[in-house]
Amino acid sequence: MIESCASAPGKVILFGEHAVVYGYPAIAAPVSQVRATAVVADSEQPGVHLIAPDLGHSRWLATAPADDPMATAVRLLQTAAGLPHLPNLTVTVTTTIPIASGLGSGAAVATAMIRALVQHLQLDRLNNNEQISDLVYQVERLHHGTPSGIDNTVVTYERPVYFMRDIPANRIETFTVAEPLRLLVADTGQRSATIDVVADVRRHWEAQPARFDHLFAACGRIAAAARTSIEAGDVATTGRLMQENHALLQLMTVSNGTLDRLVEAAGAVGALGAKLSGAGRGGNMIALVTEITEEAVREALKTAGARSVLTTIIEPAERET
Ligand code: PMV
Repeated sequence: MIESCASAPGKVILFGEHAVVYGYPAIAAPVSQVRATAVVADSEQPGVHLIAPDLGHSRWLATAPADDPMATAVRLLQTAAGLPHLPNLTVTVTTTIPIASGLGSGAAVATAMIRALVQHLQLDRLNNNEQISDLVYQVERLHHGTPSGIDNTVVTYERPVYFMRDIPANRIETFTVAEPLRLLVADTGQRSATIDVVADVRRHWEAQPARFDHLFAACGRIAAAARTSIEAGDVATTGRLMQENHALLQLMTVSNGTLDRLVEAAGAVGALGAKLSGAGRGGNMIALVTEITEEAVREALKTAGARSVLTTIIEPAERET
């Protein structure tokens, strides 16, 4: 049997979530140890079968509803490739990325699927990060409503990015990470739908435009300053900026008691900084640690109620040539 396989990482937003939807800069990095993997295989049964055992998903493309994310990925790819018919296929997705937790699971599943299909169907014209990221963005619109584009970018390019939503083209920049950033990613265990949180922030912004514009602009300044501190290897300043960003996210109403408790617990035992990451109201938080403080912070996060804590190290990114 002929098979094609591709995978894509999870991600964390280091700075600038929510404000990024309104055109301010944000920084995100891949989390390579949690991944979504897609296997595309020729099949003898007619049609395209979409299976995701971890997500409890088994559907046929022909009868999947319009808002089904896996079917949407296939349909968008089929349209982009101009293929009137698809061969008989089985598409199986497995993932170790917790869903609805701010780790980019939706973008990773779509990226892995689209990459594996592009390879399998030999769609060479679409076989580049830019095209794949663009298709994943279109799938993300289902989950997010008005996605900024940062998730699909960091997950498809799989490297830290400084991102700014713009028209006609987003600004996507790699940057030097002078000193590796050691992060703990702690899961609150609370699932939260990005589309709802983003819509709620939009309602607040519409009700109080001056106040929210001010908060978004402050997040943008923090992301820009963080890029400078990361490029300079100034880990202490990067940590302080995370703390400031969390305070702004609290004012935006996207933190909650659990996230605040985890952020405080990390700070109390020596984290250089901590903040919620992603849409908020649950999902994950991140804490910047050193080799020396890592274990104490991990224990403090678990004691404060984190369901799981994983370590990810953001290493210097390869520069594009
Ligand atoms: O997918 P999440 O939960 O990491 O959130 C994405 C980040 C937001 O800024 C809240 C939304 C967006 O589209 O950028």
